[in-house]
Amino acid sequence: MKGYLLIICLFMFGIISHTYANLEYKGYKRVQGCYGECYEEYVRVHGNVVEIEMAKREAALEDPYSSIRGLWAGCAACHGQSGQGVGVFPALAGQDAEYIIDRLTTYKNRGQVGPMSSTMWAQAGMLSEQDIETIGKFIEETL
Ligand code: HEC
Repeated sequence: MKGYLLIICLFMFGIISHTYANLEYKGYKRVQGCYGECYEEYVRVHGNVVEIEMAKREAALEDPYSSIRGLWAGCAACHGQSGQGVGVFPALAGQDAEYIIDRLTTYKNRGQVGPMSSTMWAQAGMLSEQDIETIGKFIEETL
């Protein structure tokens, strides 16, 4: 009988934790009928969810450019790892955010800057406005 209740309890817990996995603490009211082991388990797992969320947030705080690091690897293939420029590919290091944002927006709209602008059209085309802003700041502040 006890095992049977535990199974029901775990099942309910599964539904609740699934429903509320992405929310913080909102599930508390719903688990009033979940005592003992079930409740401990709920808190244990729920705590972990919050911990994971907090860890993610902390990582994002520590690295404000985490969202564009992957993208930058692509840019770096032409512009150099530290944006120093490689051969015909212009240096980006040392430019301010406004300049970079202006250029990328022009390329995104298929505008001409230099003789090789078409190379940048596809590159800028896949960037969101948010990406462009973040990349601009990234280049100004870190390169
Ligand atoms: C395939 C090589 C290549 C890749 C990948 C690439 N670029 Fe470029 N980039 C170029 C070339 C070539 C130019 C010069 C285009 C022109 O003549 O207008 C350029 C120009 C630029 C400029 C303008 C520089 C200036 O001073 O006018 C910026 C800003 C820029 N790229 C940013 C980026 C960013 C950010 C990425 C990654 C999302 C990226 N590029 C990826 C080749 C590349």
